[in-house]
Formats: sequence, structure tokens, C-alpha cells
Amino acid sequence: MKRARIKDVLKTSPQNQEITVKGWVRSFRNNMFIALNDGSTNNNLQVVVEQAGLSEETLKRITTSASISVTGTLIASQGKGQVVEVQAKTVEILGDSDPDKYPLQLKNKPSLEYLREIAHLRFRTNTFGAVFRLRNALAFAIHKFFNEKGFLYIHTPIITASDAEGAGETFHVTNLDMMNLPKNEKSEIDFKQDFFGRAANLTVSGQLEGELAAMAFSDIYTFGPTFRAENSNTPRHLAEFWMIEPEMAFFDLNDNMDLAEDLLKYVIRYAMDNNMEDIEFLSQRLTEEEKQKPQNERSELTLIEKLKFCLDNNFERVTYTEAIDILRDSNHNKKKKFQYLVNEWGVDLQSEHERYLVEKHFKKPVILTDYPKNIKAFYMRQNDDGKTVRAMDILFPGIGEIVGGSQREERLEKLETRMKEMNIPVEELWWYLDTRRFGTVPHAGFGLGFERLVLFVTGMTNIRDVIAFPRTPNNCEF
Ligand code: 4AD
Ligand code: MG
Repeated sequence: MKRARIKDVLKTSPQNQEITVKGWVRSFRNNMFIALNDGSTNNNLQVVVEQAGLSEETLKRITTSASISVTGTLIASQGKGQVVEVQAKTVEILGDSDPDKYPLQLKNKPSLEYLREIAHLRFRTNTFGAVFRLRNALAFAIHKFFNEKGFLYIHTPIITASDAEGAGETFHVTNLDMMNLPKNEKSEIDFKQDFFGRAANLTVSGQLEGELAAMAFSDIYTFGPTFRAENSNTPRHLAEFWMIEPEMAFFDLNDNMDLAEDLLKYVIRYAMDNNMEDIEFLSQRLTEEEKQKPQNERSELTLIEKLKFCLDNNFERVTYTEAIDILRDSNHNKKKKFQYLVNEWGVDLQSEHERYLVEKHFKKPVILTDYPKNIKAFYMRQNDDGKTVRAMDILFPGIGEIVGGSQREERLEKLETRMKEMNIPVEELWWYLDTRRFGTVPHAGFGLGFERLVLFVTGMTNIRDVIAFPRTPNNCEF
């Protein structure tokens, strides 16, 4: 008989029909009631084994996280807490789970830190069940959004020979013998003998290749893994993260901001329309967690209120220069409450400044534009003032930067000059510059950090808890 998903079974009207369900035991009470879970929902199906005639030995094998297959009849539940239950006729043990050795005892509420150490099993908890179902829904919603808008999904390479951001945070890709590296006349490593005949690295962004595609298809997006060897041990940085990067020909910065705001609202709404049960669970989890904090550190809004608030408000659009004035004149700055004080125009904003603007000053998502050119990448369109570029960062409550993007410099000469100033190898990027030689057009794009989006929607506070197997400095387990 075909296996029924527990999520569907719980919505089925009970008419003594025969069904088969399979899953993992969450708990077994009074040698009678199994709470069975198959990951399709956090809600367990109650299986009553009374009439299955199980031997003493089989009953002992129904332990937490043992896997079982149950065939029985679906009936209206006599007990409280569930509408339907299964009256088991047969219970087959598929895989035993030794209760003395099983590391995940749900009774004593394992900490998120401990669960990271057993990330291979944490999928079986309610919290991670909800997080990963939401992650899935958000990924689907992103594709749905772009597909409805007629964008082409482009797969940009994972292995490249360029550093799109020019920040020098790449991981090398090589198959040279590390113990016996070939050297050239100058005693440098001879990458000519390496696999690709040149030095290669994991991509930090698909943008440059995305721009090439946009110069033919007009509207494209990428959605793939990106890699950064930045040594930031923070709750918001991963060495391997997923990024969504749309790139649009004939777009200026305003069009770019409109699209980014639409996208964020669309995917949040999608999650609320389709996964409310999981969001409700995580909202309660967050409220519980915040009870541990002192009153003044708790957030004023619940997770659900935060998501609604984001949908109901226009994002505030402000220039970097305006933001610096706000920060410099803030009481926070005057009372030296920032770790990095804001004194002069031109400094890069720290996460504490971004969060101040969003959470304390504007109290809604903020889009900052027109940053100083010296703190941004080479490809951003230069403004007439000679000091700033057409950049935009979207800042979210509790997260800080969630999106980074810009209008691109489409004028060959200006782009080349800027690349030389910033020591970006002009010859190596000949193919990128060709788009400016052959039918260049104004265009723009942005990158949305997928894990930061999942953080926001799930209300989790550490990025290591929204990707299955996080890669961070000194951690590559699983
Ligand atoms: O601002 P970033 O570096 O921009 C780019 O890579 C551009 N090429 C994007 C574009 O215009 N096509 O990164 C974009 C976003 C950030 O706003 C952040 O959400 C996320 O990617 N991000 C990270 N997420 C997790 N861990 C990291 N180490 C991240 N670095 C960036
Ligand atoms: Mg950025």
C-alpha cells in the first residue's frame, strides 16, 4: 500500500479507511500511543497500537527516533489534542534507535549550540523542521517570482578565474601537489601547470557572468552557492552561502530598488500564505527565547508582526550622506554608545550603524544609496560628483544588510579608468569589458543573501541555524 504523508493524513476526514504511514517515533506513551513524524509537518500523527497484538519485544523496540511503518484504520480521535488517529493493525520496525545512545533527547530541550554539533540529526526537531520547510518555500517563491516576471534563470560558474568583488576573499581551486609545488623562473608558484593552466578560485558572486547574459536576454537571475574566505566569525557570515542575483538591462537604480522591494515582499507574503503553521511555531519559539533576555533587549514586535510590518510599509530610501548626518547627530553617537563612532563622511557603516538606522531611527526597512566610491566595488556607476557611486544596500531589522546592489558603469572609458585605479586586472576581464564595447546599455542588479532572508523570515538569530551544514572558519564538519 502507498505511503500517505502525515501532513495530508491529518487533514483527511476519518472514515475507517485503511492507510499506511511511515516515519520516526517522536514519543511512545503508556505502551499504547506513538507520536509519529515524517517531516511533512511538525504535527505528529497519533498511532494507537492497542489492537495490533504486538509482542513485548516489539513494544520495547518502539523508541525515540526508531523508524517504523504502520498500517491501520484512520478514525476520529477519542483523545484530546488531535482530530484523527490511526488504529494500528500492523507495526513494522524499519530501523532501531538505541535510547541509551541516541544523542537527541527532546525532553531536556537541547540548546541550538548543541544541535549544531549534531547537525546530522537536528532536522528531526520541530525548530529545524520549521526552518527547513520555510527555506524550501522561500527558494521556490524566488523562482516563482522571477518566472512570472519573464526572467531567465542562468547558471553561472562555481569555478572562476576572477574575483568579482575585488575584495581578495577567494578560495583557491587547485589540484597541484601541495607538498611539491611547481615554481616558475621568478620562484613563484607556476599555475600554468595547474589543472586549468592558470590560477582559479571558487566564485564570490555570479554577477559578472550575469551581466553578460543580461546583455542578450535583458532580464536574468542567478541563484547559487557563493564562497568567501572572509574571516568573520559573526552570526551573519558564512564561508559558503547562497545568493540570488538578478541583472536587468535598461534598468536604473530606481528600477533596481523597486524590483528588490517587490521581490522581498513577494517571497515573505508567499511564506505567510503557504507556511503559516511553521511561522507560528517559530514566532512562539522566539517569544519564549526572548523571555530569557532583560525587558529592554526584547523586541517590541513578535515575528509575525515583524513580517506583516515589512509587507505594510514602503522601505525608506535615503542616501549614504543623509544617513551619515543622522548617525553623527544621533544621541547614540554623542553618548558614545556606538563601538565605532561616526565622525566623518566616507567611513564604511558597521552593522551597529545599519541596525540603528533601521531599528531605532526609521523603524522600518531602509535602502541606502549613493555610497562613497572608495568603499564600493569597481563596477558601480559613477555619479557626477566624482565622489559617490549608484550603489544601494537594503537594511533589515535584526539583520542589517540583506541586499547589496547597484546601477553598473556602462561607459567603457570610465569603467577602465576606475579598474586601473583599483588595481583590477583589465586584461583578464577583457570579456567583461567587451559588453561595454558592443552594444552597451544602462543596466543594474543586486545580490540578495539567501540565508539572511531565511534568518529574517524564521526569526532565528544565528546564520548557522538556517543552512543545513554551515561552513565557517574552523568548521567543516558533515
Ligand atoms: O554586497 P555583496 O558582497 O554584493 C555582491 O556580491 C554583488 N556582486 C551582488 C550584485 O550586485 N549582484 O553581497 C550581496 C549579499 C549581501 O547583501 C548579503 O546579504 C549576502 O550577499 N552576503 C553574505 N551572506 C552570508 N555570509 C556572507 N559572508 C555574506 N556576504 C554577503
Ligand atoms: Mg555588500
